[in-house]
Amino acid sequence: MSITTSDAPIAKPELREGFTLIDHAKGQKYDLPVLAGTEGPTVIDVQHLYGDTGYFTYDPGYMSTASCESQITFIDGEKGILRHRGYSIEELSEHSDYLEVCYLLLYGELPTAEEKAAFEHDITYHTMLHEQLHYFFRGFRRDAHPMAIMVGVVGALSAFYHESTDIHDPEQRRTATHQLIAKMPTIAAMTYKYSIGQPFVYPRNDLSYAENFLHMTFSVPSEDYRVNPVLARAMDRIFILHADHEQNASTSTVRTAGSSGANPFACVAAGIASLWGPAHGGANEAVLRMLDEIGHKDRVGEFVKRAKDKDDPFRLMGFGHRVYKNYDPRAAVLRESCHEVLAELHVDNPQLDLAIELERIALEDDYFVERKLFPNVDFYSGIILSAMGFPTSLFTVLFALARTVGWVAQWKEMIKEPAQKISRPRQIYTGYRQRPFRAIEER
Ligand code: CMC
Repeated sequence: MSITTSDAPIAKPELREGFTLIDHAKGQKYDLPVLAGTEGPTVIDVQHLYGDTGYFTYDPGYMSTASCESQITFIDGEKGILRHRGYSIEELSEHSDYLEVCYLLLYGELPTAEEKAAFEHDITYHTMLHEQLHYFFRGFRRDAHPMAIMVGVVGALSAFYHESTDIHDPEQRRTATHQLIAKMPTIAAMTYKYSIGQPFVYPRNDLSYAENFLHMTFSVPSEDYRVNPVLARAMDRIFILHADHEQNASTSTVRTAGSSGANPFACVAAGIASLWGPAHGGANEAVLRMLDEIGHKDRVGEFVKRAKDKDDPFRLMGFGHRVYKNYDPRAAVLRESCHEVLAELHVDNPQLDLAIELERIALEDDYFVERKLFPNVDFYSGIILSAMGFPTSLFTVLFALARTVGWVAQWKEMIKEPAQKISRPRQIYTGYRQRPFRAIEER
């Protein structure tokens, strides 16, 4: 397959006038270099701080820490900007399709027509799963959460595709990344079919990526299934919007797992585990549960009040983001898609009315305004997905499917970094100092 890659850096970080750290206790000064990327905040380079001063930095949750250098995705949370390789998410979701965005994330440039065709062909011809994996699925309980199945099956891929696990071989790395992107829709659809007791549906090579996924999920062997083009387009757009989001929890997990030299299938399984939590990918599932719990527009005020009460653990799911302190640009695109899908399906969805009312009230409330808490991507995705017929338990699986390209693109970028090191954070130890062992009869 012919591929144009721009893996060479667009620009190396620029060294700026440094920072001086004053250690009053020791009466010493240390100069720290400051580095600037092409956009975004400049960073204080503390790589040599411990060696030079004996101090660590302390930053639980990485509130102020850049963990790597990357050229894939840029977010300006204050302005609500998300760009992949320089292209805005709004333009990509309007003019591009998911596989083109995958190519862009992986190889740095939008493909030519020839490159696009070759890439689509390669992905299409990797969509089938090793037949033996069907038995692997059958080992799970039918009522297992689809994410539990997915994390297990994706981890097991390294046992089935062992010939693409040598991370030092560029050809094997390329094969593994394409296999992961190609096989995730098949795995996601199979988790669903398994949970409802229907036969697995094999992929079809004459369908697009999104169409094929809908076909594997919703068709049955006993009758013809015609993919609705409006739903296929909405599905493709949902995939684009979830494709990458720089160094979020699951991507950082993939990078951390990969930093030890683990194979990409194992690393992506780690990413899926991290995505599962309700503070990350599990939030769209939580949004629908919350809308169900609220039940009626008249009760929105009561729930907004609860969300503001520090003694109540309830939070408005689908609101707030570690990085966006403005409207999440992905939520704006999804809000529009949501109306298109519901119109196509002629669905009068009370949950959408409730969501719009909740958004209106929260956006006018001082608590949310002061803390810059806006709807995030999960706020609308659950409503579209449920209108399309996906059960709530499959929402995070769809997020994992779409995010796989981001994980593998970031993993690939990390592997190629010449100065790449194993991720090994340090700590402030607050436990016991050394103490003598006590025999069991003395405890
Ligand atoms: N409802 C009510 N209050 C909130 C919410 C919320 N959804 N989110 C944040 N706050 C408050 C929080 O209580 C805190 O208030 P105070 O300053 O008075 O203590 C302040 O806003 C800052 O919150 P934080 O928890 O320190 O912010 P964070 O950056 O650590 O958390 C978050 C970000 C996304 C985990 C959080 O906003 C949240 O739990 N949101 C609901 C879950 C959700 O929608 N998650 C999806 C995230 S987007 C998808 C993805 O990228 O995975």
